[in-house]
Amino acid sequence: MSLTVVDHPLAQHLLTRLRDVETPPTVFRTLAKRLTILIVLEAVRGLPTVEVEVETPLERTTGRLISPDLVAVPILGAGLGMLEAVTELFPEVSVGYVGLERDDATLLPTSYYEKLPPVEGRHVLLLDPMLATGGSAAGACARISERGPAEIRFVCVVAAPQGAEKMSREHPDVPVFTAALDRDLNDKGYILPGLGDFGDRLFGTGPDSGLPRRVKGSARVEVCEAAFGLVDEPLVPDGPGFVPGPGQEVPGLPGSHRCLLFGGVLQSLVGFHDQLEDLLRIQPPLQ
Ligand code: URA
Repeated sequence: MSLTVVDHPLAQHLLTRLRDVETPPTVFRTLAKRLTILIVLEAVRGLPTVEVEVETPLERTTGRLISPDLVAVPILGAGLGMLEAVTELFPEVSVGYVGLERDDATLLPTSYYEKLPPVEGRHVLLLDPMLATGGSAAGACARISERGPAEIRFVCVVAAPQGAEKMSREHPDVPVFTAALDRDLNDKGYILPGLGDFGDRLFGTGPDSGLPRRVKGSARVEVCEAAFGLVDEPLVPDGPGFVPGPGQEVPGLPGSHRCLLFGGVLQSLVGFHDQLEDLLRIQPPLQ
C-alpha cells in the first residue's frame, strides 16, 4: 500500500487549525472542506482523462477532461464533512454512502447503511477523515471491492500508524492519502495527537456543545463563564451572571481586560456559542 502525506504548507496550516481545540464547528467545517480539497487534489493525480476537442476563441485544439467514472463514498457520518470538497471539484461525481458500526460481540465492522451507485469499473474515492484502527476503512473497502471497482483511493485527514498498517495488510492495492501520519491511538481509539472526535467537532455534537468552552487562561472563555453565571466567584460587583457592557472593565481578568462590543443578556445565547466569538471582543487594556 502507498501512503501519501500531503505536506503542502497550506495543508499543514489548515490541519493545525483543525487540531486546535478552540476552533468552533462553524470554522471547523470550512477548514475541513479546504483541507479536503488539497488532499483530494493529490489523490486524483493520475486519474484517467479523456481527450476532447475544444474551440478556443482563436482556433480548435485538443484538451483533456477527467473521465466521468468517478464515485465518491463518504463513510457516515464524519465522512460527510469531506464530501462537499469533492462535489465542488467534480460536479459530475456519483455519490454513495456507507455506514458502519462495530458489532460489540464480534468487534467487526457491520454495515447499518449502504447506498452505492454502480461502481463496477469506476474509480472510487473513499472518504473518512480519521483513519484510526482502520476497521471502518478496511470494512468499507471490502464491501466496495465486492462490486468490482477499477480502483479505490482512500482519503483521510489524519491517519494513525495502526490504521495505515491495517489498510496495508488487508487492502495493499488501496493507496491512502492524508495530511498527517500521527503518533498513536489512545485506549479509546482516538488518534494522538489527533484532533478529537471529528464528527463531534464538525456537527457540534460533543458533550460540551452549546456551552462555553472551558479553556483556562483564555480571557474570552472566562468572560463567557462569567456571563453565563458559570463561575463560583463573582468577578464583578454585580455578582454572578453579570454581563459586561461595551468598553466596561472586567475585573478579575488578567490586566483588567475590557469587553469591547457586547452588553446584554448573554444567557439567551446558550447554544449559540460560536456567535459569541463575534459578539464578544476582549482586549487587554490600553497601555
Ligand atoms: N474518530 C475520530 O473522530 N477521531 C479519532 O481520533 C479517531 C476516530
